[in-house]
Amino acid sequence: MRVAGSGPFRRELRVPGDKSVSHRALMFAALAEGTSRIRGLQAGADVASTRAALERLGVAMWDEGDTVVVEGRGLGGLREPDDVLDCGNSGTTMRLLAGVLAGHGFLSVLTGDASLRQRPMARVLDPLREMGALALGRREDRLAPLVIRGGSLRALTWRLPVASAQVKSAVLLAGLHCRGTTWVEEPAPSRDHTERMLEAMGAGIVREDGRVGVRGRVPLAPLDMEVPGDPSAAAFWAAAACLVPGSRVTVRGVCLNPTRTGFFRILRRMGAAVELRPTGTSGGEPVGDVTVEHRALRGTRVDPAEVPAAIDEFPVLAAVAAAAGGVTEVTGAGELRHKESDRIGTLAGELRKAGVEVEAFEDGFRIRGPAALRPAVFDSHGDHRLAMALGVLSLAIPGGAEVTRADAVAVSYSRFWEDLGGNPDRP
Ligand code: S3P
Repeated sequence: MRVAGSGPFRRELRVPGDKSVSHRALMFAALAEGTSRIRGLQAGADVASTRAALERLGVAMWDEGDTVVVEGRGLGGLREPDDVLDCGNSGTTMRLLAGVLAGHGFLSVLTGDASLRQRPMARVLDPLREMGALALGRREDRLAPLVIRGGSLRALTWRLPVASAQVKSAVLLAGLHCRGTTWVEEPAPSRDHTERMLEAMGAGIVREDGRVGVRGRVPLAPLDMEVPGDPSAAAFWAAAACLVPGSRVTVRGVCLNPTRTGFFRILRRMGAAVELRPTGTSGGEPVGDVTVEHRALRGTRVDPAEVPAAIDEFPVLAAVAAAAGGVTEVTGAGELRHKESDRIGTLAGELRKAGVEVEAFEDGFRIRGPAALRPAVFDSHGDHRLAMALGVLSLAIPGGAEVTRADAVAVSYSRFWEDLGGNPDRP
């Protein structure tokens, strides 16, 4: 994909439905008693993986216009799949489903693409085994393909070694299926969509200082909700406004859950004019509009405590930091090395191609700006968020730039390049 340098962005737009909320809405609807109706579900490849896996597990669902209707099968009501469940590129599909499947007595095998088969899975298999499920993986139970045979589980208290909403959710979902209360303790709060949505469905969610629990075997009521826009997608438009002088962008109907809006807080500290205007709620999530107006930005230091609420936005933050004056430093973000690509190594390598001064650490990076940006041929490394971050950075490069393996965006935002106004330049 060739992206030309851009004139001011003055736009109002909507982004696809939130990916994390979409996965959860489909999965939790499958576990509910009765029929759920979900509007505005994200249409990317990751959510399609969740949908296909649930269908293989015996869940009936169909589209009615922009609504997906799901026939819930009740807790423990899924059916043994007659083949391997392919989670594609989606860590959320694999890790959350592992938790759900631990509550079922049948055998299932979960696999995914080459990237997902390299991502850490012991973090989810360990607690499930501790609860009484058979939970195996390749390379001494560390990598997918995974094999799960669950059944009668026991409640436990699990302390997460790293803040991870996917692992927290897997344990809570297994906990839905057993007697007693299952607790998860986190070193720092990760996104809490699972707790909010389960609570909205009538589950027994309990919160205490630094931990969250779920009472098992409480039936779930079906969902009737609209999925809010994805703040991680809105982040690219916020960044575009920051990178191109004279820009002002408004994204409507975005999920404003504070565990997801860390990037906007960081941008504000860098000097951007960022406005978040709440307009309502949906499925237990606050929703509103985001407006960002261009200002000259300065570098900032991101505290490790800020990392979980901005975890998916570091590629695009790095793009903004390249154009900001002074040093931007991120530490305590070693988890970035375990995302769809090693988002410290791949990011540093790609930014250097455009003349950005970047230093990579084991757990973060330092960028000194503003860079004298020069045209480059970037590689997405098959990582959707890297592709989009490099696409947005290209807007600020005099003469523009090229992003190869640009179709990686289909994982979460298929119409990204059209929205960016890039010129399709493919064979
Ligand atoms: C997600 C949690 C985060 C995030 C991912 C989606 C979720 O991963 O990076 O894109 O939907 O729960 P971790 O749980 O590994 O931090």
